[in-house]
Amino acid sequence: MAIVELKGISKSFGQVRAVDGVDVEIKDGEFLVLLGPSGSGKTTLMRLCAGLERPTGGSIVIDGSVVNDVPPRERGIAMVFQSYALYPHKTVFRNIAFPLTVEGMDKAEIRKKVEWAAGLLGIGHLLDRMPSQVSGGEKQRVAIARALVRRPKVLLMDEPLSNLDAKVRHSARDELKKFQREIGVTTIYVTHDQAEAMGLGDRIAVMHEGKVRQIGTPDDIYHYPADTFVAGFVGTPPMNFIEKDGLLTGFRPELFHPAELISDQDPVRFRFRIERVENLGAYSLAYGTIGSVKVIANLSPRLRIREGEERDFGVSRQDVRYFDKQTGAGIRR
Ligand SMILES: Nc1ncnc2c1ncn2[C@@H]1O[C@H](COP(=O)(O)OP(=O)(O)O)[C@@H](O)[C@H]1O
Ligand SMILES: [Mg+2]
Repeated sequence: MAIVELKGISKSFGQVRAVDGVDVEIKDGEFLVLLGPSGSGKTTLMRLCAGLERPTGGSIVIDGSVVNDVPPRERGIAMVFQSYALYPHKTVFRNIAFPLTVEGMDKAEIRKKVEWAAGLLGIGHLLDRMPSQVSGGEKQRVAIARALVRRPKVLLMDEPLSNLDAKVRHSARDELKKFQREIGVTTIYVTHDQAEAMGLGDRIAVMHEGKVRQIGTPDDIYHYPADTFVAGFVGTPPMNFIEKDGLLTGFRPELFHPAELISDQDPVRFRFRIERVENLGAYSLAYGTIGSVKVIANLSPRLRIREGEERDFGVSRQDVRYFDKQTGAGIRR
């Protein structure tokens, strides 16, 4: 376990500022998710932590020591990449054992450690198989076991579930979180999937164009987005925005309801013209307009609502967020 501090970290590749002045402190045993669209600098930031890139500015501090000049193998950090290449001609056992074999550890000790890591990931029964004989999800676990076998202080994972089928991703998420809690390893996890970030992170750092736009608990990020970028990126469908009284007014689709159903005596009201309704089983999405602005409502499928109708809708005042029209910055009122 370890505390990781990123202090004013920057990395440029020629003219491209891939990471631009990032300040984040990751607590001991914390699961921190870096969330951002493709190209926002997530992988570069992970490679900087791992020591695979040198920062052009700032410092990386692990447990109080600056590690900028410490080689990757000596940082106590392990990394799992999206393309978790396993050695195809080695058994699962030998794949997991590989980092220990390289160190020249004795065989009995290696076996103990491999069995510990494999047990943690629930792949103890696969140790004698070849990678071609296990599923995608199991390969992913082998890669994680291989990362854990040296007992890293810090675990870095870069989109580790993105190669899995949507169906197994939920259970993989659940298991990932369980073993992380069990061994308490400080974890930095990269994803572009906001649901994954919300589900896994103790805290989420939202990145955009090399900068951290907001860092906070999933609740903070979802309910009090720092700006319109975060508000639009987190949540599906994204937050609705309407210009009102010189400000940008934001409200989540699932908090936008027929006015008569809102308990607030004085909700913020809108005339909603419903153009199309999608019944998705668990909920319905109503697509339409307020004036000329497109908005979406996420409604109970029991609600009777017709395409083409116009109705009074509203949002409870406490659920409305305000943003600066020019800068997009959130305004607390
Ligand atoms: N080795 C490199 N050389 C040049 N540009 C790079 C290199 N690595 C990353 N970049 C650029 O840095 C930016 C951030 O990339 P990356 O960290 O991979 O983002 P993400 O992982 O969020 O998709 C992108 O514009 C990318 O093209
Ligand atoms: Mg990446």
